[in-house]
Amino acid sequence: MNEHPHNDSLIKHDTDVSTNTDTQTNESMTSDTEAPDNKHKRIVNTFMKRRTHMNKNAELALTDPEFTQYLVNNSFGDGNLEGINDLRSSFSDKPNGSDAPLTLEIGFGLGDSFIEMAAADPTRNFVGVEVHEPGIGKCAYMAGTQNLTNVKIINGDAIQLLKQLPENHIDRIQLYFPDPWQKKRHYKRRFVSPERMAIVTRSLTQGGWFHTATDWEHYAFWMVDVLDNFAGLSNQAGKGNFTTRPSFRPMTKFERRGLERGHGVWDLIYIKD
Ligand SMILES: C[S@@+](CC[C@H](N)C(=O)[O-])C[C@H]1O[C@@H](n2cnc3c(N)ncnc32)[C@H](O)[C@@H]1O
Repeated sequence: MNEHPHNDSLIKHDTDVSTNTDTQTNESMTSDTEAPDNKHKRIVNTFMKRRTHMNKNAELALTDPEFTQYLVNNSFGDGNLEGINDLRSSFSDKPNGSDAPLTLEIGFGLGDSFIEMAAADPTRNFVGVEVHEPGIGKCAYMAGTQNLTNVKIINGDAIQLLKQLPENHIDRIQLYFPDPWQKKRHYKRRFVSPERMAIVTRSLTQGGWFHTATDWEHYAFWMVDVLDNFAGLSNQAGKGNFTTRPSFRPMTKFERRGLERGHGVWDLIYIKD
């Protein structure tokens, strides 16, 4: 399981998180942001916003104060992250306060496993960031129905968010079953890349960790290659090794889907030196 199946280098170190001009079309998804930045180049996102049905509970959670209290940015529809430059302060009026250990989950999907983790660890604060609005609504709905006080949800691009946050701010960052971007021309969209890991690592506290898991074998070995070679991060299981699935990580929707298709599952935990 830990043997590298691809001897030639998996990573072409050309991922540019802000300057690439590649475009992708996919009928089932809305078009990528592709907004020119101030150098007139295009942004390569790690996501494609999906057009999927929003159920009544999710819709309610985006407007009813009982649930919108979980939403850090209320201007839904545009993922505007303006002014979000501190995650800890969102908990200052909650029982845990702002100094409690802080986890950020990137791309929680519909939020089931994220909410399960937050409910199981009430003394830790959890922030989830996602671009998929039906998922954001569903997640806020679940947080509200369980009266959780240790959860906040942000609508927007995690990369943009992390860039706005202070250094040494988050104790754990988790990225479960990220979009695998299987086609070679889309590898640049993979969340785990040297450039994006620099942004992730900067916001981690010393001794904090980055935990990821995937059911795509190629991406799993790509991740080890990127992360083992990233200065400032140490593989908890030793270079080249995957971590035994930790008991605190619940099964996610995409994990279940992968297992049903006969995929394996690979977990990785890296500690910031
Ligand atoms: C394949 S799904 C996995 C969802 C969930 N973690 C699971 O395992 O069921 C990946 C999710 O990550 C989200 N995503 C991808 N890139 C993101 C980014 N830069 N910021 C926020 N969310 C992102 C997508 O919208 C999508 O919902």
